[in-house]
Amino acid sequence: MSSTSGSRFPLLPILVSCASALAHKQLSSFPEHGRVAVVALVFAFCFGLYAILSLLLNMTCESDPLSETQKLMAKFTCQETKQGIKVDSVIDGYNKLQDDAHTTQTDRNSNYSALVNAYYDLATLFYEWGWGQSFHFANQFRDENFRQSIRRHEYYLASRLDNLRTGARLLDCGCGVGGPMRNIARFTGLPVTGVTINKYQVGRGNELNAQAGLETLCRSVQGDFMQLPFPDASFDGVYAIEATCHAPDRTKVFAEIFRVLKPGQTFACYEWCLTDKFDKEDPAHRLIKKQIEEGDGLPDTAYTHEMDAALEAVGFDLIETRDMALEMTAEELRAGGRTWYHPLTPSYNVLSQRFQFTPVGMPLTTTLLKCLEFMRLAPTGTSKVQTMLQQGAIGLARGGEQGIFTPMYLCVAKKPLK
Ligand SMILES: C[S@@+](CC[C@H](N)C(=O)[O-])C[C@H]1O[C@@H](n2cnc3c(N)ncnc32)[C@H](O)[C@@H]1O
Repeated sequence: MSSTSGSRFPLLPILVSCASALAHKQLSSFPEHGRVAVVALVFAFCFGLYAILSLLLNMTCESDPLSETQKLMAKFTCQETKQGIKVDSVIDGYNKLQDDAHTTQTDRNSNYSALVNAYYDLATLFYEWGWGQSFHFANQFRDENFRQSIRRHEYYLASRLDNLRTGARLLDCGCGVGGPMRNIARFTGLPVTGVTINKYQVGRGNELNAQAGLETLCRSVQGDFMQLPFPDASFDGVYAIEATCHAPDRTKVFAEIFRVLKPGQTFACYEWCLTDKFDKEDPAHRLIKKQIEEGDGLPDTAYTHEMDAALEAVGFDLIETRDMALEMTAEELRAGGRTWYHPLTPSYNVLSQRFQFTPVGMPLTTTLLKCLEFMRLAPTGTSKVQTMLQQGAIGLARGGEQGIFTPMYLCVAKKPLK
């Protein structure tokens, strides 16, 4: 998923920038004693306005933008030291890897781990800020709020892992910072190990496991799902949520999952795929595919039917595959449902996170981030990261609208007993 997609409107930076601009412009003509009072008044006004808007957003969008934005700003200030990276050079390197003028598809596939790692080094902060701890999409049915829809989507996948008894162990393949892992551990009462290639996500995931009081049930480990760091037949169920799309070769990742799964047990996943409506001869379709890949850290994107073939090729018995995006019917939409890509579509409601996808909101967000970079409140290169993520969000929304892409191709497959 695209990190910018659910992000709440960055009110604090806007207000701080306005206050700074006002103060800079106006105060030179003020006597000394008046300046302190004006600055204090401007900041009090900004804070009051911000608190009121936050409250409104909290009531209408189930979010807490004040604390989320503050957390993001705090993470910005220590991002480079904590992760041991230079954001500007990582984003430049990442963009080069995705640039067809510099890198071929074959190179991208063979450099998948550098590509994916760079992407999540840059994107994880934004993902958490905007989307929460679960980095995936969900259809939002009538009477569901965003968070409920995300949980229901996770519980459904977990419910497809049958034959689980007390003492069973689950694997979350490509676990992010562990939102689904914690929800599924609570849902099933079973221990879940999460594997992610990104070191920062491992630390953050285990921090959140401890904060949730789930450190005995949930554990994040670093590893590459193309070579899983576990013995054969060590899990009673494996699931992957919008993660194996990062693999350069589905057959290899599914073969690894098959290897670590016990015979007779189930693998269930939600896959990012091109649908049969995707026409590779159509330049507009190809542009959308490229935007999704560049904005979401993917080396390439495969068709839904390729998932079925890859699962069977490694020895799985297919139980079910279907595109769950199609469950959002016209009738459900009329009754108040929302498509998975709805949070990525533009809206001129400035209190909505979707404002950032409007022609006005896009340059405004970039400018604000550049101001933060200038004031050294965000690492240099942060605005380039946001631009890259925004392009991904636009590609996803267009792909969803045209029905040529889905992030929820459900695959349920069983490892035969023999
Ligand atoms: C879109 S995120 C989804 C995370 C999680 N499933 C969720 O829904 O919150 C994709 C995840 O796959 C992980 N990933 C990508 N390539 C990987 C690889 N080769 N090995 C292990 N993890 C990988 C990323 O690090 C990231 O955590």
